[in-house]
Amino acid sequence: MNLVFLGPPGAGKGTQAKRVAEAKQLVHLATGDLLRAAIKDATPLGLEAKGYMDRGSLVPDELVLRIVDATLAALPVSQGVLFDGFPRTVAQAEGLAAMLAARGRKIDRVVFFDIHDAHLIRRATGRRTCAVCGRPYHLEFQPPRVAGRCDVDGGELVQRSDDSAETMTRRIGAYQGDTAKLLPYYESRGLLARIDAAAQIDDVARALAGLVRGGDG
Ligand code: AP5
Repeated sequence: MNLVFLGPPGAGKGTQAKRVAEAKQLVHLATGDLLRAAIKDATPLGLEAKGYMDRGSLVPDELVLRIVDATLAALPVSQGVLFDGFPRTVAQAEGLAAMLAARGRKIDRVVFFDIHDAHLIRRATGRRTCAVCGRPYHLEFQPPRVAGRCDVDGGELVQRSDDSAETMTRRIGAYQGDTAKLLPYYESRGLLARIDAAAQIDDVARALAGLVRGGDG
């Protein structure tokens, strides 16, 4: 099974992707995480991507497609993948379809995290992430048991540099300008399912479990 999680920044894609990938034994392929790892490792691709991410703009399609292709190439063809935050443009969607077809794969379902913009800045500015395992928290909606420390490994909880209100406003603009075009794109291909991403985390998880069970066919 290959799934795509699509939605605006802060909609809860990463939070749910971690759970679904674990439950369904899918590889969680989040382009934001891959790009942040490339920046941390100071690779040429990471250095090129950094300026775009700091500004809240989309990283050019060619760079993103390259990093996804390299990741897919390292996986066995039978391994299902959950794409989180990718594709984000029609060019990326077409690139993904071609990459999958070349490997005898296809997308089974695209889940749209439907949520009003009003929620997004509050979710992003309150987000904290474990520096060790990447698990997401929220100061208000999903607080850790011990302030500033990950429940799982005790790692330090850090704030992403692009989670300021100002950069989030630009990220939401990039979503509306480019990524939202993928809704009619996938709807016309019969792949799109919507969930109410404004609901509480466990309710979103329950709705997703129903959809993903359906995706087993
Ligand atoms: P990326 O890392 O992909 O970020 P994003 O899509 O902007 O999404 P987020 O990670 O901000 O949000 P999320 O939906 O995963 O929410 P989360 O679950 O964490 O991209 C960052 C940058 O990289 C982009 O701006 C771009 O520059 C570049 N990039 C990445 N991919 C690219 C691509 N394909 N093409 C071009 N450029 C690309 O939840 C958010 C917070 O809310 C958390 O604190 C969580 O605890 C809380 N929360 C989650 N669900 C709920 C809920 N139901 N109720 C209450 N709180 C909740």
